[in-house]
Amino acid sequence: MGVFLMVIFVGFVLGLILNHFLPLLFLKNKKLGALPRGSFGYLPLLGETLAFLNPHPSTNIGSFLQEHCSRYGKVFKSHLFFSPTIVSCDQELNYFILQNEDKLFECSYPKPIHGVLGKISMLVVVGDTHKRLRNVALSLVSTIKSKHEFLTYIEKTTLQILDSWKDKKQVIFCQEARKFTFNVIVKQVLGLTPEEPQTVRILEDFLTFMRGLISFPLYIPGTPYANAVKARIRISSSVKQIIKERRRNNIIFNNNYNICENKNINPQKKESDFLEILLGVDTLSEDEKVSFVLDALLGGYETTSILMAMVVHFLAKSPTAFEQLKVEHASIRSKKNKDESLNWEDYKMMAFTQNVINEALRYGNIVKFVHRKALKDIKFKDYLIPAGWKVLPILSTVHLDPSIHSSPLEFHPWRWETQRQDQTSKKFTPFGGGSRCCPGSELARVEVAFFLHHLVQNFRWSVEGDDQPIAYPYVEFERGLVLNVEHFAL
Ligand code: HEM
Repeated sequence: MGVFLMVIFVGFVLGLILNHFLPLLFLKNKKLGALPRGSFGYLPLLGETLAFLNPHPSTNIGSFLQEHCSRYGKVFKSHLFFSPTIVSCDQELNYFILQNEDKLFECSYPKPIHGVLGKISMLVVVGDTHKRLRNVALSLVSTIKSKHEFLTYIEKTTLQILDSWKDKKQVIFCQEARKFTFNVIVKQVLGLTPEEPQTVRILEDFLTFMRGLISFPLYIPGTPYANAVKARIRISSSVKQIIKERRRNNIIFNNNYNICENKNINPQKKESDFLEILLGVDTLSEDEKVSFVLDALLGGYETTSILMAMVVHFLAKSPTAFEQLKVEHASIRSKKNKDESLNWEDYKMMAFTQNVINEALRYGNIVKFVHRKALKDIKFKDYLIPAGWKVLPILSTVHLDPSIHSSPLEFHPWRWETQRQDQTSKKFTPFGGGSRCCPGSELARVEVAFFLHHLVQNFRWSVEGDDQPIAYPYVEFERGLVLNVEHFAL
């Protein structure tokens, strides 16, 4: 019996090792070029994944990429996330990958992520389903982003948060930023305010969901992963319940979203959130609408709050940028009445603010890389990228490459003053690129810009201790970014 088990075990290990190195032995299209240099590591299945995921400050590229790029060049092979992989730190190859979505490459997030996000999440679907969901997302964002109600709600939420700081000496900024972005996104997507019991329930489930998304994917009751899968199911049923209530209220807008057909309801009180518009869209199934709401909540929450934290963190170390920002916002305020709300035209005047946001996105690297798969054998320059292999365009290495951005390890918002947008599409990709480029980028920017408008005119701050953004690879401030705050009124 013992010998039998031993034979099975040895066979299993040999099988794993063979399976690990097999992709190197059976390359069909050698005439297209050679594989990039690199190593599969020695651990079957895992390959070099653990070293690749080793946490490091998000303002540098980390020792794994540093060592691999110096040894093998900006494009190398590896074995990551259970798959043979081509890693690209090269701006031309990254651009080529992002621009050829669905033709040569396809979005391919690890399977456990599908388990939490659901099979019809926009982040994981491909082909026509993706196009259909994405078209709805783009038109929703362009309808909502400059709407008066949306902009005033961002400002109202900002003022509530800043008002609560007035008598405080310290705040944990990441908590405050998450509160801000959650309240904004849940109102914008579902029309809910923080006081409503549904909001509290959704937030609780949402936090469980987020924890599971970044945990070890073990589906055993009680693990963060299993809890996240269950939390997702609960959020879905909360959203379905909200949809049902909306339908019961029978508020149906015509295609222009203007005419309220229910005579008993005051048209002034009509909601102008994503959900209301979504209910009128007939190209999506009910489940796709629910999944869409989850994508918007997920996309709009964590990334935007981390961007706010990055901006505040870098500004604390750059008094010149802080002063210039104050001047820009004081000038915008001086043209308005004391309590007058900001509008889209004001937002368009915030040129230096955009430079600060761009620089925080470049230097802070909120999304380090995206997951793709090669659909066929591809020749790029002299390299072969074999069909079926994982392909990881690393966005951060381009942002921190000294041959592309001068003094990349300095926070220097002024570098963006002279850059035209068409010059930056390859070297600046914080929101990805091509047909998967983030549809929420403008929403994130306007939230941060409006928050900064009131922050810089009312507070000075310094960072307590030496907290910095760490790429796990999802980015987090280790200590939550504790700020010493001082309130001043202009
Ligand atoms: C600073 C804030 C943000 C950053 C850095 C960011 C970054 C990104 C990146 C890099 C992608 C591309 C993923 C890929 O190519 O695989 C992406 C996609 C996406 N983002 Fe964002 N995002 C932000 C804010 C938002 C907001 C506010 C929303 C929604 C309200 C949102 C919703 C989405 C969605 C739905 C996708 C999937 C798009 C698709 O696959 O076509 N994001 N985001």
